[in-house]
Amino acid sequence: MSEEPKIVDTSPVIIELEPGTHAWCACGRSANHPFCDGSHADSGITPVIFDIEETSKVALCACKKTSGAPFCDGSHSAI
Ligand code: FES
Repeated sequence: MSEEPKIVDTSPVIIELEPGTHAWCACGRSANHPFCDGSHADSGITPVIFDIEETSKVALCACKKTSGAPFCDGSHSAI
């Protein structure tokens, strides 16, 4: 059984990402949030691996309630 993700913040992390593969922290326990650092071990939660094609500014979910992980979908406004 999975633990509940930890709410890191109630607003997204706006960040410019380089092209490549990234791992978004879905558990909220990473010391390197919004990226996975392996702290999800034993939580039953796994990171969301996603690709960025070209350098772009994105809004990554920090409340962990998004339906469109890893990206913010506005769900934080309902917390
Ligand atoms: Fe949170 Fe890996 S540390 S998903």
